[in-house]
Amino acid sequence: MCGIVGVVGNRNATDILMQGLEKLEYRGYDSAGIFVANNNGSNLIKSVGRIADLRARIGIDVEGTAGIGHTRWATHGKPSEINAHPHQSETSRLTLVHNGVIENFAQIKDDYLSNHHLNGQTDTEIAVHLIGKFVEEDGLSVLEAFRKALHIIEGSYAFALMDAQDPNTIYVAKNKSPLLIGLGDGYNMICSDAMAMIRETNQYMEIHDKELVIVKKDSVDIQDYEGHSVERESYIAELDLSDIGKGTYPYYMLKEIDEQPTVMRKLIKAYTDDDNIVVDNAIVEAVQEADRLYIIAAGTSYHAGFAAKNMLEALTETPVELGIASEWGYNQPLLSKKPLFIFISQSGETADSRQVLVKANELGIPSLTITNVPGSTLSREASHTMLLHAGPEIAVASTKAYTAQIATLAFLAKAVGQANHNKAAEDFDLVHELAIVAQSIEATLSEKELIEEKVANLLATTRNAFYIGRGSDYYVAMEASLKLKEISYIQCEGFAAGELKHGTISLIEDGVPVLALISNNPILAAHTRGNIQEVAARGAHVLTIVDEALAKEDDDIKVMTVHPFLSPIAMVVPTQLIAYYATLQRGLDVDKPRNLAKSVTVE
Ligand code: AGP
Ligand code: GLU
Repeated sequence: MCGIVGVVGNRNATDILMQGLEKLEYRGYDSAGIFVANNNGSNLIKSVGRIADLRARIGIDVEGTAGIGHTRWATHGKPSEINAHPHQSETSRLTLVHNGVIENFAQIKDDYLSNHHLNGQTDTEIAVHLIGKFVEEDGLSVLEAFRKALHIIEGSYAFALMDAQDPNTIYVAKNKSPLLIGLGDGYNMICSDAMAMIRETNQYMEIHDKELVIVKKDSVDIQDYEGHSVERESYIAELDLSDIGKGTYPYYMLKEIDEQPTVMRKLIKAYTDDDNIVVDNAIVEAVQEADRLYIIAAGTSYHAGFAAKNMLEALTETPVELGIASEWGYNQPLLSKKPLFIFISQSGETADSRQVLVKANELGIPSLTITNVPGSTLSREASHTMLLHAGPEIAVASTKAYTAQIATLAFLAKAVGQANHNKAAEDFDLVHELAIVAQSIEATLSEKELIEEKVANLLATTRNAFYIGRGSDYYVAMEASLKLKEISYIQCEGFAAGELKHGTISLIEDGVPVLALISNNPILAAHTRGNIQEVAARGAHVLTIVDEALAKEDDDIKVMTVHPFLSPIAMVVPTQLIAYYATLQRGLDVDKPRNLAKSVTVE
């Protein structure tokens, strides 16, 4: 998590850093800071809270031609001004920002820094003191000291380092955490993601793990940790600045929920040619060759894997297993003989998923990343990539990425099934069915007022709630409940409707909200209705979200029917709106829930 931005060789350094931090704020927002320098001196300003709080502290005299900035998601030490980045060495000569976790920070402190005065509790402060010690006490150059420290430091990091005696250089290095170079006209930048630099430049250069880069206004020198130069081509990214604005929306989340019909149509365009499904042959073959598909992901992306599992199995005739990324790296089950790992990740940067991919690559296991971010780490390092074409997702709560993930997996399943002459795949008119999904989402979006009103009755003050469903509705219930708890702070469980009576029903008492999802299958629908009776008999306040084809007059929210393989897409949309309105009604920040960050780049 956390966002890093830096610029060298531009007279508007302060402005560029602040604009960059505003764009990066979704990556972490408990505190922030900037260091700005020119040949006459420097300024270090930090603040707890949001970028707006930092901005309020920056006077017009804070100007320079180079600088580094950071927006933090604390891992070591509470969010405070002292723990906010940038951090400085013992004599304040060196200044550092960091994204990641230094695993051997305690050891470094004992081995090298026993006589140093540390102000806060961060692992980052230890890193800058270590580099500083090599310069200030041992007389190494900054480059030598940085290189020496990088051989000692273990863990994940994106570092940007400045030397007060040379304000024309930023030294950077990375391992496992994201960082990119942006090439400007007469100046250069560094940043955690391309989007935050797009106002300045669309020409970028990748940095690979364990590379050290010396960035000056007119040069970028990439080296390995032994000091050997590395050649790297730059590339132009097709990003649209207008994509990252909120427009007239009060929150990104609502904008992103509303964009879902458009995303479905974009996916049709991206994965078809004259109504024929077009998925890279190499990807289709990789699935055909596999005897088992292992989907590895975290959070909402993990839930999307569940939502697509039945469809993938039915159409590809290959068993699908799901793995929570943070568990898998260290607790992998016995694999089949010819596994294919499928990573689902909106950001393409999730550290938990990446550590599984690193191990898969070591073992020579083929992999496919399904991501929204071209050029992201998981995309670069996997054997194959399929893109979500959802446009940037900024709200911490993922919405359009989830529905795009299921739709993208549908294209994969259909393409493989067709290639295998699977009858169900041949009969599945995906383009037509996704067009219906887009209409169904639009129909739900036109019911916002109704949903807002239902939520006000149900969730405005409750402390806990349940989502229940069977079959694919159970998978949607898991996602719906994550969405609700993530942003409204209502404790919520997504439960298989039939499983409640095996213990959890003891939590049902007068007024506990139970939100029931019913789609597709009339037999399952009848069983879920039975479970609704059971909780209602014990005082639950029930809200039903039902496929139109199965709905009764007094059901609360009706969802236009779609193909059963795609019903999680249609069914999740009312639950996204429920989470959104519950959060608004509780007076909370929809886009930036507490304790969270959008891109989880630490394990
Ligand atoms: C979703 O609302 C969450 N913010 C979170 O669960 C997210 O889906 C998870 O961290 C995985 O992120 P990724 O898709 O970028 O890998
Ligand atoms: N570990 C560092 C800290 O806690 C960096 C966290 C981050 O990536 O924001 O300050």
